[in-house]
Parts: sequence; structure tokens; C-alpha cells
Amino acid sequence: MGILTDKFKAKADKLSAEVKDILKEHGDKTIGEVKLSQIYHGMRGITGLVTETSLLDSQDGIRFRGYSIPELQEKLPKAEGGSEPLPEGLFYLMLIGELPTDEEAQYISNLWQRRSHVPNHVFATIEALPLSAHPMTQFVTGIMALQTESSFAKKYAQGLSKKDYWEAVFQDTMDLIARLPRIAAYVYRRKYKYGVHIQPDGLLDWAGNFAHMLGFEDESFRELMRLYMTIHCDHEGGNVSAHTTHLVGSALSDPYLAFAAGMNGLAGPLHGLANQEVIKWIFEMRKELNTDLPDKGQIEEYVKKTLAEGKVVPGYGHAVLRKTDPRFDAQMTFGKKHMPDDPLVNTVWNIYEVVPPILQSLGKVKNPWPNVDAHSGALLVHYGLVEYEFYTVLFGVSRSLGVLASLCWDRALGFPLERPKSVSNRIVKLWLEGKEEIWGGD
Ligand SMILES: CC(C)(COP(=O)(O)OP(=O)(O)OC[C@H]1O[C@@H](n2cnc3c(N)ncnc32)[C@H](O)[C@@H]1OP(=O)(O)O)[C@@H](O)C(=O)NCCC(=O)NCCS
Repeated sequence: MGILTDKFKAKADKLSAEVKDILKEHGDKTIGEVKLSQIYHGMRGITGLVTETSLLDSQDGIRFRGYSIPELQEKLPKAEGGSEPLPEGLFYLMLIGELPTDEEAQYISNLWQRRSHVPNHVFATIEALPLSAHPMTQFVTGIMALQTESSFAKKYAQGLSKKDYWEAVFQDTMDLIARLPRIAAYVYRRKYKYGVHIQPDGLLDWAGNFAHMLGFEDESFRELMRLYMTIHCDHEGGNVSAHTTHLVGSALSDPYLAFAAGMNGLAGPLHGLANQEVIKWIFEMRKELNTDLPDKGQIEEYVKKTLAEGKVVPGYGHAVLRKTDPRFDAQMTFGKKHMPDDPLVNTVWNIYEVVPPILQSLGKVKNPWPNVDAHSGALLVHYGLVEYEFYTVLFGVSRSLGVLASLCWDRALGFPLERPKSVSNRIVKLWLEGKEEIWGGD
């Protein structure tokens, strides 16, 4: 562990000093203006956070420490015989800011293996829920039960110096990431496989072992898990799961509490739950049309019907992106390589040809292109992971990598409690009459 913490500390000390200098010299500079409409419309476009791990460009999509997804697929270490990146390597990149060597990625893999033990009370807590509970509810319950293991919470209660916060957060981060696949697999096997659980395989990498514990031994499914865990891990700081983890962490709630809060946000249908909505929507379309491979005309009619019912087309649109999500492209490439003839996957590709012009014609949809969720379910179904209510849990396991690496940076850079100003509609009206200030506050 020492090598990683030493490296992180050296990077964090350097950046902290730079940030201090930047703020001393430029702290009073104005970075932009805020329109009244923005505070009513989800704060879109207001830069209000600093996040190290990744940056989203509306045209190019996500970059992790400057690297695009195709670049990561080329440059990050792979499992033996595999061609998809190891998520361990991406975590290293997000945390340290440098591409890892094979040995460094392996080092993280070994650390997570050693720390992956989940205490029995966590499983007992999950067992207290009815089987009907949504997998995300069971997953978050497991994370909350695991909070008893937080070293940050224990050390803070004993009296922890502010300069040491980051290290306790780092320890929790490594423990939590190491244990999440076990909890997620437990939820899956409990809910869908009659509670027949599968013991971890200590020889496998983090994502490969997760695939194994879920019950999928196909090597190409392991590759899918490595890709899936890589592309879902982070999407800069303002999305609901990342922002929530950061916000709750800013109250010095420990990483278990902060991450569980983020996961509750991921469980929303406009965020992570959209991947289950997509596959549900396609299954319903197939059922209604009584075919496994609807043609483009049939898809067009079904999309129009969905819109006429006042519903959104799931998997399409994005708050920031204005092009096809490169995470969609990466999955499409995977599909073309591993399952080019799968009817469901082909339906996803046909939908991709049909939906954008229809959404464009509505004139109000800012981004008619597919996001990550439009594709992921079809790949999972191909391998037999058909229980789509579970998909957001997979997303959540992956998301831990980015948001928890960010949380380490939040504490290392000494970010304070987050506390934006809010106003009431009365104040807005008085401001419009020139009688009140809308800006400022404690
Ligand atoms: C992702 C999403 C929540 C972004 O929301 P947003 O930033 O408010 O999107 P926009 O600014 O483009 O929305 C403008 C209008 O277009 C509509 N719109 C956006 N995406 C749409 C879609 N996929 N289908 C139908 N209508 C859509 C919005 O509902 C909104 O309509 P309204 O003005 O009548 O309320 C939205 O595109 C959506 O609901 N998509 C489907 C769900 C999904 O895939 N979520 C996963 C996100 S990764």
C-alpha cells in the first residue's frame, strides 16, 4: 500500500500548493455569469466543481485524465490474453494521473483481492430485505451495513488531524472497491439464482472475479465486464452520482456513507436506472410487435407511439453530450466483434439509425444521440444476464472507481463543506423589481 499512498501524497502535495497559489493570485477572478434560467434548470452549464479524474466534452465525450476511451483501450494494461482494459489500471490513472505499468495495475488487483472480505453481518442485513426489493435497494443496504468497517469514521471519532483525512478516506476507498463486487454478486445470486452463491476466485482480476461470482465463466463475458467497468466508472463531477458522493463527502461523512448516497442517485430513472429502462422498452416493443427483430419501419412507429404517450425514448439524450456517446461506440465495437448476428444487439443498432432524426424533428431535444445506456443491456442479455433490474448495480460497482478516486482528491486538496446559496421564488420576484439581491449569501 505504501507505494501507492506515497505516490498519491507526493502528487497531492504538489497540486495543493499550486491550487493555493492559483487562489491567492486569481481567486477573485470572475469565471462567468449565471442566468436566472440556469438556477431553475438544474444548474446546467454553471461551472461549480473541480474534479480531477475525468472531463466531459460535449463533442468528444468523456476523457479520463485526458485519455479518450479508444486510447484507454489501447494503452491500459490488459488481463492475460484479453484485449479490454483492466479497470484496476483506470483506477490508478484516475487516482495518480499517470498511466500504470502492468505491474502497477497488478499491484492494485492484488490489493483489492486481499481486502475483499465482506463480514457476515452485511449478508445478514441484505437477507432481512424481502426478495422483491429492487437490486439497487439491496446493494445500497449492503454498502450501508458495511459502513461499520469505515476506518475514516473510527479515526475521526478518535480525533483525526485534517491533514490526515485523505489517508483514512483512501483506506476506505480501497476496502470498499475491493468488496463491492462480492456484495453485488450476492444480491444477484440471492434474487435470481435461488441464493446459490459462488465463492470468489483469488486468481482472477477484479472484473473477471466479479463475472465469476455472478456465475458467468465465458471468457468473453469477463472481457465485457472489464469493458463495462471501464466505461461506466466516471463522467466528470456534476452528474448525480458523482456530485452526490462529493457533496455528502464534503460533510466528512465517510466514504461508505458518501458512496451509498451517490448510489441512491444512480438508482433514479433519469440517471443509472436508464439502462434497465432501455432493455425493458425494447422487450416491450418486441412483445407488442411479436418479433425478435423488428424492422426500421416498425421501430419508427413504436418510437412515435412512445413519444405520443408523453414518455422519453430511453437511452437517448444527455445533459451535456451533443454527439453519440463514445461509450455507446465502444460497446457497439464490442458487439461487432463478439456477437455480430445477435438479434437484440442488431435491434439496438437499428434503433440507433431510426431514433435520432425523430428526436431532432421534435425541435426541443438538445441531444438526439444515444448515451451509454442505449447499448449496455443488449450485450448483457446476449450472455444470459437478462435480469435487467440488476443492471444499475453493475453500473454502481463501476462508478465506485471514479467517484471514490475523486473523494480521495477532495480530502487531499482540503475541499470544504459544499454549501451553495438558494433563493425562494419570492426573492426572485423582489429581485426582478430591484428590491432584493439574488446573489451571495452565507
Ligand atoms: C438524459 C436526459 C435526462 C437529459 O435531460 P435534459 O438535459 O433536460 O435534456 P434536454 O435539454 O434535451 O430536454 C429538452 C426536452 O427534450 C426532451 N427529451 C430529452 N431527451 C429525450 C428523449 N430521449 N426522448 C424524448 N424526449 C426527450 C426532454 O424531456 C425535454 O422535454 P420538455 O421540455 O417537454 O420537458 C434526457 O435526455 C432523457 O430523459 N433521456 C432519456 C433517459 C436517459 O437515457 N437517461 C440516461 C442519461 S445518461
